[in-house]
Amino acid sequence: MKIEISNKKISEVAADIKIVFVVNKDLDHKSVEDKETLEFLGFKGEGEEACLLADKKTVYVGIDSLDADEIRLGASKAINVIKSTTAKSIKIGTYSDDCPGVNIKAMSEAFILGSYSYQNYKSKKKPLNIETITICTDDYSRPDVSMQSAQKAIKVGTTIAEATNFSKNLVNEIPYEMHSLKLEEIAKSLESIPNVTCKAYGKEFLEEQGMGAFLAVNRASHIPPRLLHVVYKPSNAKEKFVYVGKGLTYDTGGLSLKPGDYMVSMKSDMGGGAAVLGILKGAAELELPYEIHAIVGATENAIGPEAYKPDDVLTAKNGTTIEVRNTDAEGRLVLADCLAYACEQKPDYLIDMATLTGACVVALGDYTTGVMGHSSELKHSLMKSANKSGELTGTLPFNRYLKKLLKSSIADVSNISSSRYGGAITAGMFLDNFVEDEYKDKWLHLDIAGPAYVEKDWGYNQCGASGAGVRMNLYWMIEKSKEEDK
Ligand code: BES
Ligand code: ZN
Ligand code: ZN
Repeated sequence: MKIEISNKKISEVAADIKIVFVVNKDLDHKSVEDKETLEFLGFKGEGEEACLLADKKTVYVGIDSLDADEIRLGASKAINVIKSTTAKSIKIGTYSDDCPGVNIKAMSEAFILGSYSYQNYKSKKKPLNIETITICTDDYSRPDVSMQSAQKAIKVGTTIAEATNFSKNLVNEIPYEMHSLKLEEIAKSLESIPNVTCKAYGKEFLEEQGMGAFLAVNRASHIPPRLLHVVYKPSNAKEKFVYVGKGLTYDTGGLSLKPGDYMVSMKSDMGGGAAVLGILKGAAELELPYEIHAIVGATENAIGPEAYKPDDVLTAKNGTTIEVRNTDAEGRLVLADCLAYACEQKPDYLIDMATLTGACVVALGDYTTGVMGHSSELKHSLMKSANKSGELTGTLPFNRYLKKLLKSSIADVSNISSSRYGGAITAGMFLDNFVEDEYKDKWLHLDIAGPAYVEKDWGYNQCGASGAGVRMNLYWMIEKSKEEDK
């Protein structure tokens, strides 16, 4: 599917179908040529409402405002309607607000995100008929949409959305296929992008590094662990972003076995790993001026005679001893060693991403990422970019009293809290034990347990994986690079 820009008026461009946004129920706007028919059909132009007028070859979609996320919702809604027709070409106006590039970028993102579908295991696949989408600078957009800036906006939006879809593919794949060695193959394939290199470390390396926590989680699996370390290092690199992703290719819960209902969808427990790989891919393709590391702790949490047990005591890379009281709190064990390793990379920003706790979903709901860390400024900075990207975030504040709930009588720390409340925060505070003092204020913990995998369609996301975290981090780095240019 190709997205292109045209400086012609929309009426002068040939296409099989036209998308018209009805902004804030304004059916009197001159772009709405079929007001009477729409009113007859009861179409009001409310947010996410769509109406296909087949004989007019037009899809009308209601959006509440010209905000970027309204544009995304409208564009993906239109794509959903058009997908079921035979239309190959689409045309649409620019719907620019103050800053034209923003909405062209958002529109491009939504076309790519909205047309995604995961059909690997369907015996009858539905191909996408849509081949080209032409965004026209028409009568209703501001005259200052330069072709060059519009083309750049399309490129950036497309790259961000494709990186997100890349992550979705990794998460949607079945666990039998998507194991640590497959993830290694995929991480290595990123080396085809200029300035990207990948190293994959196995059991021996983890042993040498003293990664006793990571190794314990892997013990019952017949597939070896992998610590994947992908680096994008352009010659003009400014600061260093080190991303760490939870790459649990399946989480049975281990001996503290999950009940059947809760185990379903745990193929998504590598959502953090998939996200950090997607971020690195997107950033490298956009040639962002940063050194970016994506570190993934990849293993499954299985059961078997070799399985680590509640009551075991593990020693992590940084020497901290951990009492295991629940083998289902495994992600934090893998991240403990990966975070200690990540600190050795001397990051300017250290961000871990993980489907870490059900408690985060209880606190914030399915769609929102939990943001934790010590620096309010850092949290705020990322959350501002997340908002622009259309991803939802909420902060969960650390506090000294919750940290005390992780005390252990036999080891330095327990892998679960003694209280059932505040579980997302106590998990974050557990991780804090593995972030060196020097990096405490540079560290963010993103719990994506809610949005990484949702079993229903929502907005421009389909049932299944959403690539949570990819867009917000790419937006964040892009904005940072612009600020530094000023
Ligand atoms: N992978 C799960 C967390 C999860 C839950 C992700 C729901 C996505 C959706 C994690 O490893 C886990 O099992 N956490 C436990 C922690 C508990 C034992 C302290 C949980 O959340 O129940
Ligand atoms: Zn678990
Ligand atoms: Zn898990």
